[in-house]
Amino acid sequence: MKALILSGGHGTRLRPLTYSQQKQLIPVANKPVLFYAIEDVIEAGVDEIGIVTGPNREQVIETVNSAEWDAEITFIHQGEPKGLAHAILVAEEFLGDEEFVMYLGDNILRDGIVDHARKFRENDPDSLILLTEVDDPSRFGVAELDENGNVVRLVEKPKIPPSNFALVGIYFFKPVIIEACKSIKPSWRNELEITDAIQWLVENGYSVEASIVRGWWKDTGKPEDILEANRLILDDIRERISGEVADSTVIGRVVVEDGARIVNSTIKGPCIIGRNTKIENAYIGPYTAIGNGCVIRDTEIEDSVVLDESVIERAGRIVESLIGRGVRIKKDSIKPSGHRFVIGDNSEVIL
Ligand code: DAU
Repeated sequence: MKALILSGGHGTRLRPLTYSQQKQLIPVANKPVLFYAIEDVIEAGVDEIGIVTGPNREQVIETVNSAEWDAEITFIHQGEPKGLAHAILVAEEFLGDEEFVMYLGDNILRDGIVDHARKFRENDPDSLILLTEVDDPSRFGVAELDENGNVVRLVEKPKIPPSNFALVGIYFFKPVIIEACKSIKPSWRNELEITDAIQWLVENGYSVEASIVRGWWKDTGKPEDILEANRLILDDIRERISGEVADSTVIGRVVVEDGARIVNSTIKGPCIIGRNTKIENAYIGPYTAIGNGCVIRDTEIEDSVVLDESVIERAGRIVESLIGRGVRIKKDSIKPSGHRFVIGDNSEVIL
């Protein structure tokens, strides 16, 4: 079985971070979201992965190639995001005549896909879709099931959802899905929807099975989703101190990476401090991930994600924040006093 991992799209709901960074590369617990998808498909036995890229193609290639993978990786350029079914058509040559798992590169699944891959292999349907019950199905593709649990209808982001079963962004397909993708028309949002392609399978007599996801699942499309995914992943980390800790208190499950230096501070896990980051006279609280090469001084940070190379000094207390790369936040005594901002488009500041 091959895998197709989608890492295109504009990521508009994650601006301003996505002005400079492809959304699937935003780190959760200091690891790009995309890497969780790659690890999951490899764990399920896939050794040929196609990664669909969009506007920031070079960035995705560079980041993926910076790590070692137990699989052959091919990059497939989609360009403009014209829909999930369009991404399959762009990858037609790579997919050939093999079955595959399609994994949306901004999704994270606690328990991986091994059990679902087994079910797909054993039951041998034309498609197996992952579903999970949610409170707000209108935000997702939604499946209607009959009394035996068979898929009878699929609708993308319905105003009146036929059930609470949302489509998780992971799908197993036989090659007939390519014919389905060629047979459908663009939706109201002008995208070739995978939901419509799977509906085409149902209508044309192909078997579509559902597999229910029991552990947590996160679509990291919005800032609050990144923070939530960060909490969920940090909940499972194991303590590991590789960097230096001096005159500090470290409580709970904390990861301090190589070259990091913590001086005169309190670190309360679960949290992770990236490589070569300096923490001085600071408090880093639970559910916080500080990236590589950051400086945090005379500041308290809790329940937040700080990306690489950011410097935060005398900034008081920061909570529930998503802070980009190379950001500078500091308090000083320059007159006239007041807040001074140089922030990008679509930023959010809550004082
Ligand atoms: O996350 C689950 C949901 O994902 C499903 O419930 C929906 O049925 C499915 O349509 C999808 O909805 P989204 O609105 O969340 O899809 P989004 O446009 O955010 O794209 C999902 C991922 O695929 C994202 O990582 C970007 C990438 N993508 C998207 C499009 C439209 C591409 O690589 N190419 C594309 O053309």
